[in-house]
Amino acid sequence: MKEQLQSIADEALSMLEKVQDMKSLEEIRVTFLGKKGKLTAILKGMGALSKEERPIVGQMANDVRKRLEEAIQNAKTKLIKKERAEKISREVIDVTMPGTFIPRGKKHPLTLVLDEIKEVFLGMGYEIAEGPEVELDYYNFEALNTPKNHPARDAQDTFYINENVVLRTQTSPVQVRVMEKKKPPIKIICPGRVYRSDQVDATHSPIFHQVEGLVVDKGITMGDLIGTLQVFARSLFGEDTKIRLRPHHFPFTEPSAEVDVSCWECGGKGCRICKNEGWIEILGAGMVHPYVLEVCDIDPAVYSGFAFGLGVERTAMARFNINDLRLLFENDIRFLKQF
Ligand code: DAH
Repeated sequence: MKEQLQSIADEALSMLEKVQDMKSLEEIRVTFLGKKGKLTAILKGMGALSKEERPIVGQMANDVRKRLEEAIQNAKTKLIKKERAEKISREVIDVTMPGTFIPRGKKHPLTLVLDEIKEVFLGMGYEIAEGPEVELDYYNFEALNTPKNHPARDAQDTFYINENVVLRTQTSPVQVRVMEKKKPPIKIICPGRVYRSDQVDATHSPIFHQVEGLVVDKGITMGDLIGTLQVFARSLFGEDTKIRLRPHHFPFTEPSAEVDVSCWECGGKGCRICKNEGWIEILGAGMVHPYVLEVCDIDPAVYSGFAFGLGVERTAMARFNINDLRLLFENDIRFLKQF
């Protein structure tokens, strides 16, 4: 039995010396020290020994168990250290390696202009409002005093989803949506995409952007409109910019005007940019029509307001001297890089 114990100890220790992973280590433990293990079998067989031999062999078996347990613990510690070292070397990062180059983007000219416009109006205390691009005929036309027989409703100008739903042709419907919900004082701008059934050319696109403005309060006059547009034109086109209002017709404003700014290139003398006019048209505006106020349950005898709508593409083309609207939508990097 002593020899048996000795050979079990030798065998286990030599296996433990070579063990490479936790799983095999556990297998070794079970093989020798487990319930059905080799050492356990010996202890169980001790009943057959003589009284004299029993304590000696028992002592020896205990010694062997202790040695094995220690050896297993040592092997385990070694394996953990080894695994950790391997993990660290696997995950090592060379901070001196060159990084991956990420090209830096820039803002689209339309976004640049839109940001400038927003900044001017936010600075004057306006809030930004939004409305749906797929819009009810009611908001896009009807409530804006544009009845069923109005030429702007022609299918040649408007994309119809069905009889009552259109792709909005202007940002003006947001005026009505805002006035329905909120009572004066109202001071909002509404930037957004609009759609018209136009062929693409140097000045037309079926999709473009507008910024709508609306101010409603007691005692708002045309003077407020002109002052506001002057501030806007100066911040976008330069301190010396003048504005000019030409009488016009919009169904939802009365009186209505088209608004020009003096040419930033020649200062009004006439040049190639302004086609010798000295002026460049940038927006439509007017005093909110009493019909529109009434539709929104705002009393036109108490409140008045002004509104304007400007084309973002047109403003960007003016601001950056771009001569073809298509350039703004083609996303040619060589073009976009310039701004
Ligand atoms: N919605 C008009 C258009 O698309 C622009 C416009 C004109 C908006 C006058 C207004 C306004 O709010 O008062 O042509």
